[in-house]
Amino acid sequence: MSNTRTYAIIGGTAGIGLALTRKLTARGDHVLIGGRSPDRLESTLAALGSSASGRTVDMTDRSSTRAFFADAPELSGLFTPAASYQTGAFREGARETSEDLFDAKFWSQYWAVHAALPRLSADASVVLMSGAASIRPIGAPAYAACNSALEGLARGLALELSPIRVNCLSPGTTDSDLWRDRPAEIREPAYAYWRELCLVRRPATVEEQAHAALFLLDNTNMTGNTLFCDGGYTLR
Ligand SMILES: NC(=O)c1ccc[n+]([C@@H]2O[C@H](COP(=O)([O-])OP(=O)(O)OC[C@H]3O[C@@H](n4cnc5c(N)ncnc54)[C@H](OP(=O)(O)O)[C@@H]3O)[C@@H](O)[C@H]2O)c1
Repeated sequence: MSNTRTYAIIGGTAGIGLALTRKLTARGDHVLIGGRSPDRLESTLAALGSSASGRTVDMTDRSSTRAFFADAPELSGLFTPAASYQTGAFREGARETSEDLFDAKFWSQYWAVHAALPRLSADASVVLMSGAASIRPIGAPAYAACNSALEGLARGLALELSPIRVNCLSPGTTDSDLWRDRPAEIREPAYAYWRELCLVRRPATVEEQAHAALFLLDNTNMTGNTLFCDGGYTLR
């Protein structure tokens, strides 16, 4: 019988999720990846070879997320960095930057864990994705609240789902596809501002974030925790 472990990563076709997928497949694990774009999924799977499989999924759609896990094998872990959202000021009063943001980043991860639960092994590890704005906001109060809510969710789920472990990764600005896909006139000032705000004077790499996520997946004494991989941003 094969001892290969399988991990599910929704958002495994780009950025931090893809970097973690590469780390897991490199050590011999199998990864079930998901994303919305069929083209991106197809090209990512072609590059990864037989150590990964996948299907399209929109994590904001509960039926799509349930279908993603419907024929999944037993899972040793789940990582949910899939999110596409807008942020904005409270005074603007926009639904896109408040309720829609929670749908895209909070409720999507909440229901993904719920849909994955029947497939998770008793010693599985779940890693949610928040962001360091949870404790040091730069404007966008609903975004800060959404990330704080995810960190609270990790604590609550860790209690209810034990012995399954649940933790949260809280990154600072990271040079992922999320930023690379934005116009340079938006990305470069944001990176310059970030260099001033954090202690390591640069955005994180996706490999650094994947390394932190892997630690949370693997370390069997970590549960109910939030790991800030933010170059010292939340210290200042
Ligand atoms: N990068 C940063 O600076 C930073 C900082 C703090 C927190 N974060 C958090 O990290 C997460 C994003 O990670 P990233 O920077 O690696 O982003 P990314 O490079 O944009 O990758 C996002 C991945 O998620 C997928 N995805 C997006 N929305 C989806 C949905 N509704 N359903 C299924 N898949 C979806 C994307 O593929 P498709 O587009 O094909 O769906 C892609 O595979 C977000 O939660 C973000 O808030 C990022």
